[in-house]
Amino acid sequence: MNENRSVMSVPPEEGQILSMLLKVMNARKTIEIGVFTGYSLLSTALALPNDGKANVDRSNYKIGLPFIEKAGVEGKIKFIESEALPVLDKFVQEMNEDEMFDFAFVDADKENYSNYHERLLKIVKIGGLILYDNTLWFGSVAMPMNPDMPKYLTEGRESIIKFNKELAADPRIELCQVCIGDGLTICRRVD
Ligand SMILES: C[S@@+](CC[C@H](N)C(=O)[O-])C[C@H]1O[C@@H](n2cnc3c(N)ncnc32)[C@H](O)[C@@H]1O
Repeated sequence: MNENRSVMSVPPEEGQILSMLLKVMNARKTIEIGVFTGYSLLSTALALPNDGKANVDRSNYKIGLPFIEKAGVEGKIKFIESEALPVLDKFVQEMNEDEMFDFAFVDADKENYSNYHERLLKIVKIGGLILYDNTLWFGSVAMPMNPDMPKYLTEGRESIIKFNKELAADPRIELCQVCIGDGLTICRRVD
C-alpha cells in the first residue's frame, strides 16, 4: 500500500472523540462502514465493553489487524468484507428491534452517504448515534466553486454539500457539526 494513503485514517483526536462518545453512552453494539486499515475501528473496539461488538466492512484490514490483535480486541470485531449497501440491506430485512445498533460510524464512499443514512435510521436505535466523517470536505463545502479547485476537492464536494443539506432538513435526527479532521457530523436518532 502507498504510505501516503495514511491520510485516509481519521486523525487521533477524532479517534478520541469516538472513544469518549462510546464510553459516555455505554454503547455495546456498533457498526462501522469503511474500515481501511482499521484505525477508527481500533479506537471504537477499545472503547467497547468486552461483550461489545463492532460490525464492519471491506478493505485493507489485514494491515491493521496485527495492531488490533496486539490490543486484544479482535474478539469484539466481526469483520464483513463486502460492499456496504447489500450488508446494510440484509440487516434492515433481518434485524429485530432488540438487536439494533447503539452507534454507527460512516467513513466510506461519500456518494452513498444518503443511502447509508436511510438504512442506518432503520438499524440504529432511537437515541443512538450515527456519525459521518469528512462532512466539511477539507473546508471546500464553504468555498465558492472555482476552476482552480483541485480535482480531489471538486469530486467529493457536491455529494457532501447535498448530503449536509439533507441532514439539516431531516426531522428524524438532531445533529451537531464538529470541526475536527475535515468535519464530523454527529446525528442522534430521535424518530
Ligand atoms: C477513508 S477510509 C476509512 C478510514 C478509517 N475510518 C480509518 O480511520 O482508518 C474509507 C474506506 O471505505 C471503503 N469503502 C469505500 N466505498 C465502500 C463501499 N461502497 N463499501 C464498503 N467500503 C467502502 C474504502 O475501501 C476505504 O477503505
